[in-house]
Amino acid sequence: MISADLTGKRVLVTGAASGIGLAATELFARLGARVVMNDLASNPQLSEQQKRLQNNGFDVHGIPADIGNQSDVANMVTSAIQHLNGLDYLINNAGTPATNVPIPANELDKQTVEFWHKILSVNLLGAYHCTSAAIASLQQSRGAIVNTASIAGIVGAGSSSAYSASKAALINLTSEHARVFGPNVRVNAIAPGLVKSNWECTFADQDAVASTIPLQRSGQPEDYAETMLFLCAGAAYITGQTIIVDGGLTLGRG
Ligand SMILES: NC(=O)c1ccc[n+]([C@@H]2O[C@H](COP(=O)([O-])OP(=O)(O)OC[C@H]3O[C@@H](n4cnc5c(N)ncnc54)[C@H](O)[C@@H]3O)[C@@H](O)[C@H]2O)c1
Repeated sequence: MISADLTGKRVLVTGAASGIGLAATELFARLGARVVMNDLASNPQLSEQQKRLQNNGFDVHGIPADIGNQSDVANMVTSAIQHLNGLDYLINNAGTPATNVPIPANELDKQTVEFWHKILSVNLLGAYHCTSAAIASLQQSRGAIVNTASIAGIVGAGSSSAYSASKAALINLTSEHARVFGPNVRVNAIAPGLVKSNWECTFADQDAVASTIPLQRSGQPEDYAETMLFLCAGAAYITGQTIIVDGGLTLGRG
C-alpha cells in the first residue's frame, strides 16, 4: 500500500458510505486529511460509518445529498467547502446501476426513458454538478479531481447499456475537464473491473469470472482507493487519464 502525508488536505468523497468511497474516505483520513463524506440521506450507513471513523480518531464529517439532484449537490458542495474551509481533492465516486440484475443490451424495452434519466443524472450529471460547484475552490488550492468510471465505459458489457454509456461519457468528461482546468487542477478517473462491495446489481458469476482473470480475484475497495490516492497526492504530471484497475480482466484470457 502506498502512503502520503495528507495533513492539511481537504477532501470531498461522494458515495462515501460504502465500498470504494468508504475505503477512500478511510485511507485519506488515516493519512491525515479532513474528509467530507457524502451519500444518500436514505443510507443509514452514512451516519454509522461517520461515527465509526470518528471513534477511530479520524476527521470526517457526513453531508447527505442525492448527487442526481442539482440543487442538492450545490448545497452539499457549498456546505462541504465551508466546513473544510476550502477543498483540495474531489472524488466523484457515487454511482448507480439502477437495477438489481444486469439487463442484456438487446432488451431495449427494459431500459426505459426513466431508467436512462436516473442513470445519467447520477453517474454523469452528478459528477458534472459536483465539479461545477467545487471547481473555483479546487482552482484556488491547485487541487485534483478523481472520477469513478468503470471498464463498462471502455468495453461495454456493464449492468446495462445505459450504465456503460454513462461511464463512457464520464471518461470523456474527464479528459474534457482536464483540458480546460489545467494547469491548476488535474482531472483523472479510475475504471474499476470486478469490485467486492455492496453494489446494488448482483452478477451471479462474479467469483467464477474473477478466478479466470490474470490476478484471479475481484478488486477490494482498498485497491481502488489506493489508485485514487496516487492520482490525488502523486501523479503530478498526469491529467485527463482513466486508469484501468481490473486485475487484468480487460486483457482477456491467455
Ligand atoms: N461494484 C462494481 O461492480 C463497480 C464496477 C465498476 C465501477 N463501479 C463504480 O464504483 C463506484 C462505487 O461503487 P461501489 O462498488 O463502491 O458500490 P457501493 O454500492 O458499495 O457504493 C456506492 C455508494 O454510492 C451511494 N450512492 C448511490 N447513488 C447516490 C446518489 N445519487 N447520491 C449520493 N450517493 C449515492 C450509495 O448509497 C453507496 O453508498 C460507482 O460509481 C460505480 O459505478 C462499481
